[in-house]
Amino acid sequence: MPAREREIILAPSMIAADWSRALDVVRELEAAGCQWLHFDAMDGHFVPNLTLGPMFLQALRPHTALHFDAHLMISDPGAYLDEFLKAGADSVSVHVECQPHLHRLIGRIKDGGALAGAVLNPATPVAALETILPELDFVLVMSVNPGFSGQKFLPLALPKLRELSRLRSELGLDFSIQIDGGMSVESAPLAVAAGAEILVSASGLFVPGRELSDSARDLWKAIEGGKR
Ligand code: DX5
Ligand code: ZN
Repeated sequence: MPAREREIILAPSMIAADWSRALDVVRELEAAGCQWLHFDAMDGHFVPNLTLGPMFLQALRPHTALHFDAHLMISDPGAYLDEFLKAGADSVSVHVECQPHLHRLIGRIKDGGALAGAVLNPATPVAALETILPELDFVLVMSVNPGFSGQKFLPLALPKLRELSRLRSELGLDFSIQIDGGMSVESAPLAVAAGAEILVSASGLFVPGRELSDSARDLWKAIEGGKR
């Protein structure tokens, strides 16, 4: 399917939400037209931060039909994969950099009934994925070094998005292209124009002192501007 016919998906990252009112936040995100919820699982080892585990997904799962997207920034993602699947993840992405047996892990994610994604850190080239591209449901291009929300967008992600988009049509494949890090009204249209279809956003949406509906509206407007 040509990229321009694909639906653009906004995937708020719960890392920057007010967790004391998580369910209200989910309702607001639903009302704002967001389709995926992105859960950043960090182990304090692969990345220098500790965040959400499968129990957080499990707690929210009965309360929304939104797609749950688990981004595992864990040195040994295979050890926790089953728990994330059991908790209700609809998609799971794992980093190429921490996984010597990526092919096996991607197979396990799909066997568990979820969409499987592979993630590229800013310094990892698209070429690292070439062999496994036909097996993937999506590729996540990091546009910050993973670990924290609120970092500046790295434009080096843009040529990688274009390369993935080109490879997808050349090879006749069907994976989606996701981007994560520093998405704002300035960077989001650039990412969409370069081929991204699933946009993760934390600090671009959860702005202290600002209504979620207002920041979501602005981001959607900017995304529309980037569509080819
Ligand atoms: C980065 C995480 C992202 C991050 C996005 O390690 O994977 O999902 O929370 O945050 P923003 O949108 O603020 O860059
Ligand atoms: Zn993420």
